[in-house]
Amino acid sequence: MRLTAPNVVFAGWMTMLATACAVSTDSHDPSDAPENAPPAPQALLAHEPYPDPSLPVATRVSQILAKMTLDEKLGQMTQPERASVSNADVTNFYIGSVLSGGGSAPSPNNATSWANMYDAYQNAATNTRLGIPLLYGIDAVHGHNNVFGATIFPHNIGLGATRNANLAQQIGRAVAEEVSGTGIDWDFAPCLCVARNDRWGRTYESFGEKPELPSQMAAFITGLQGSSLSASGSVLATAKHYVGDGGTTNGTDQGNTQLNEADLRAIHLPPFREAIARGVGSVMISYSSWNGAKMHGQQYLITNVLKNELGFSGFVVSDYNGIDQIDGQAGFTAAEVRQAINAGIDMVMVPTAWREFISTLRSEVQAGRVPMSRIDDANRRILTKKFELGIFEKPLTDRSYTGTVGNAAHRSIARQAVRESMVLLKNAGNVLPLAKANNKIFVAGKSADNIGNQSGGWTISWQGSSGNITTGTTILQGIRNGAGAGTTVTYNQSGSGIDSSYKVAIAVVGETPYAEGAGDRPNDMGLDSADLNTINTLRNSGVPVVVVLVSGRPLDIASQVPNWNGLVAAWLPGTEGAGVADVLYGDYAPTGKLPMTWMQSASQQPINDGDGKPSLFPFGFGLTYGAPPSRNPYDTIQAESFDGQSGIQTETTTDTGGGQNIGYINPGDSVYYANVDFGATSAVSVTTRLASGAGSGTLQYRLDSATGPVIASTAVSGTGGWQSWTSATANLTASATGRHTVYITFTGPGGDFVNINWFRFAR
Ligand code: BGC
Ligand code: BGC
Repeated sequence: MRLTAPNVVFAGWMTMLATACAVSTDSHDPSDAPENAPPAPQALLAHEPYPDPSLPVATRVSQILAKMTLDEKLGQMTQPERASVSNADVTNFYIGSVLSGGGSAPSPNNATSWANMYDAYQNAATNTRLGIPLLYGIDAVHGHNNVFGATIFPHNIGLGATRNANLAQQIGRAVAEEVSGTGIDWDFAPCLCVARNDRWGRTYESFGEKPELPSQMAAFITGLQGSSLSASGSVLATAKHYVGDGGTTNGTDQGNTQLNEADLRAIHLPPFREAIARGVGSVMISYSSWNGAKMHGQQYLITNVLKNELGFSGFVVSDYNGIDQIDGQAGFTAAEVRQAINAGIDMVMVPTAWREFISTLRSEVQAGRVPMSRIDDANRRILTKKFELGIFEKPLTDRSYTGTVGNAAHRSIARQAVRESMVLLKNAGNVLPLAKANNKIFVAGKSADNIGNQSGGWTISWQGSSGNITTGTTILQGIRNGAGAGTTVTYNQSGSGIDSSYKVAIAVVGETPYAEGAGDRPNDMGLDSADLNTINTLRNSGVPVVVVLVSGRPLDIASQVPNWNGLVAAWLPGTEGAGVADVLYGDYAPTGKLPMTWMQSASQQPINDGDGKPSLFPFGFGLTYGAPPSRNPYDTIQAESFDGQSGIQTETTTDTGGGQNIGYINPGDSVYYANVDFGATSAVSVTTRLASGAGSGTLQYRLDSATGPVIASTAVSGTGGWQSWTSATANLTASATGRHTVYITFTGPGGDFVNINWFRFAR
C-alpha cells in the first residue's frame, strides 16, 4: 500500500502550512491509527507552538508527538539506504532517516553534490504535514571516508596507539566539520569495540584490546557532538556496536561472544558507559550474539542495561539488515520486527525492504503485539535528538563548512595523528632516524606508493581498494618530500635495482584493504609472498632494512623480525603519508604505544594483556629515539597519563583541567608512571587530588613495582561525591631520589573508594 502525500508546501517554520490543533490521534489506541493517508492539511498556522525553539525540547517533543499519526511515527523509526529511497518516498512515507551504506555516493562524488543530495532529501522530509526533518547517517569512521577528496585519518587502531584523547577529540571535530559541509547530521562512529582476537577483520576499528583505550578515546564523541549538538558544525555520534562485537569466538565477524555476564560487563561495557557520560546521541546494536542469542533481539541488554541501568537517553539504531539475523534466516519476519522493537531498538536500518518493514510494524502495533508506548518512546528519543540538533530551525546544509572537506587544516591534524600513531618496535643499531642529508635511500613494497593500501577499508568504497582512490600523500611521496640536501630516494615496488651503494632500504608492506567479513583471517596472519620476496630482495643487497608495516592489526612476523634492522607499525595511516616520513626522519620522535598485544604466532590468538601468554611485543610497548623522556614529579602529573594499570578506568572529570580522572578503583588495583626523575634531593611530600563518593581506604606510593617500597601513604575517606575534589598531602616516609617507575597501589575494606585527578611531589 502506498501512502498519499499530503498536499502541503513547507517552507520553514515561520511560514509553514500546518495542521490546526484539531488533528489529534489517540496515540495509545492502535485501533484509531490511520491505515491510509493522514488527515488532510487544514488551516494555515503561522507558528505551531511545538516548533518554538524557546520552549524546552521535552515540551516540543510532547507537542509534536501528540499530533503524529501512527504512520508518521513508523516513518520516524525507518531508515532506508539512499539508493533505495527517492525524495518522493521520503515525503510520502514520512521517512525519519536515510543512510549511505559504505561507498554509496551521489555522482559526481564531491562535497557539493553530497550537500545537494542532502538538501533535496531534507526538503522532501520537511514537505510534509508536520515538517519533521530527517537525519542523514553515514559511516565517517576515519574521516568523511565516502567522500572523494575528504581527509582520511588513521583508523582507530592507530589512534589507540597515540594514547592521546585530546587528539581524538580534535579529529572528531574535524570530521564533524567535513560531515557538516555535506549536510549530514549523524555519524555512525566511533566504534568502541574492544577487539580481543586479531583474526577479526574489524580489529582496526578498535582503539585497543583493553576497555580503557576505547573509553579514553571516546573523547572522539565530544569532538563530533561539540559543546552542544545545536552548535554549528556538530554532528550526532554513535557508540557502536553494542555490545561484545570484539569478543566473538575465533574473532569471527558477526559471531558469538561467549562470556559470562560479569566478563561481558568488565571487558565490553565500560566504553559505552563513558560514551553515555559524554552524552552520545545514538547507540548501534552489534550483529554479534551473546551466548548464542543475537544482540538485535536482546531486551535485557538493550532496555534493562543500556537504557535503564546505564541511563542512555538517546536512541538505539539497528545495524544494516541487523534485525534479519535474529532468527538466522534471510530477510525479516513479523516476529523479528516485534522482537527487535520490543527489545528496545528505536530506529531500524532497513536499507531496501523498508516498505515491508513499515507495513509489518504497523500490523504488529495494530494487533497489540508491539505496544504503542514503545512506539512513542522510540519517537520521543529520535525527535529529542532532532530538536537538540537544531535541524527543525536549520534543516539545510551549512555550506560554510563545505570547503572544509579535505582542507589543509584538517590534513595537518591527520598528519599529526599519523606521527603519533607510529609504533617503533625495533631499531637495531639505531638504523632510525634516517639522516635527511646526504643519504641514499631505497624504498620498496606494495604499500609504499599506494593511497588505497595506506587508507584501508571504509575508504571511498566499503571494503576499500588498492591504488589511486582519493587525494593525499603516499608514504613514498612523504619520504621524497622530506629528503634533505644531497639525499636521493629511489623507488621500485618489488625492490629490484637495489645494490650495496644504498645506505638504507625501507620496505612498506602489509595488508591490502578489507572491511567487515572479508577481513577475517581464520588461517594464516603473516605477510604475503610478494612482501616476503620484496624484503628478501632488499636484504640480499646487504643494505640495512627497515620494515614499515601497513596493516589493520598485528601480523604473524616473529620468524622474520630477527632479519630486519628496524620495524615500525604504521597501522592504516590514511591519506597523510607525510606523517610516516616525519617519524622515519626523526622530525618527530616516536611516541606510539601498542594498543594490542603482538602475537608470537597466529596460533596464540586470542592473545591479550594479562592472559599470561608470551608476546612478541607486549601491550603498551613502543620505542623512541634516544633516551626515554623523563617525567618531572614536581610538576603536576595527570593521573590519566599513566603508563600502565590494573583494574582501574578513566572517566571525564569536572575538576580543574576539565580532562579525565582515574576511577573505579578497588583495593588491589594499581597504576604506574614510568621514568619519574626525582633528582638528587629527595621529595618530602606528595599531594593527591582525590574525590570519593563512597567507602574508605588508603593509597600507597611505591617505587618500581606494585610490591616495591612504600614512600608515602594517603588515607582516603568520603569527600561527598565522586566529583567532589580535595587535595590531600602526605609526607614521604622513605626517601625518593633518581629515576623510578612510581606505582600507586590501593588497600581498603572493599569496593570502589577513590578517584584521582592528579598528583604532585614537593621537596
Ligand atoms: C556495519 C556498521 C555500519 C553500517 C552502515 C554495517 O555493515 O556493521 O558498522 O555503520 O553497516 O554502513
Ligand atoms: C566509581 C567512580 C566513578 C563513579 C561514577 C563509581 O562506582 O568508583 O570512580 O567516578 O562510579 O558515578
